[in-house]
Amino acid sequence: MRQFLAALLLAPLACAAQPLADARQLAADQGCYNCHGEPPRRYVPSFREIVARYATYRGRLDGKAEQALVDRLHHGSLFSHVAAHERLTEEQARALVRWLVEGAP
Ligand code: HEC
Repeated sequence: MRQFLAALLLAPLACAAQPLADARQLAADQGCYNCHGEPPRRYVPSFREIVARYATYRGRLDGKAEQALVDRLHHGSLFSHVAAHERLTEEQARALVRWLVEGAP
């Protein structure tokens, strides 16, 4: 029982340190590739296009720029509401943004 409780307490710590490699799995689990795969769904930018767009941030993503990207992904804009984006947790959105900025390795 003690071990079980310790595992429960430590699990969030392990998740916080979730490496970028897991972001790809997260994207797959969240169905991102259904729209952003190759070829992407109509009118949807492919991850390849988004990675090219986000490449300007690579190696110099400060907290403010990162938060702006996270917010745009997570909450959309006036004209875009994607359920798959909105149901992400803040942490998931952040992990996925970092992953895309790093070229979606
Ligand atoms: C139902 C289709 C659909 C799914 C599923 C989907 N997206 Fe999107 N995504 C879109 C569309 C449409 C846009 C362009 C409009 C916009 O930016 O909201 C977009 C735009 C984006 C952008 C660019 C935002 C920007 O900076 O302009 C990112 C990043 C993104 N999606 C990531 C994801 C991730 C990560 C997932 C999985 C959690 C995901 N999407 C799942 C349809 C989808």
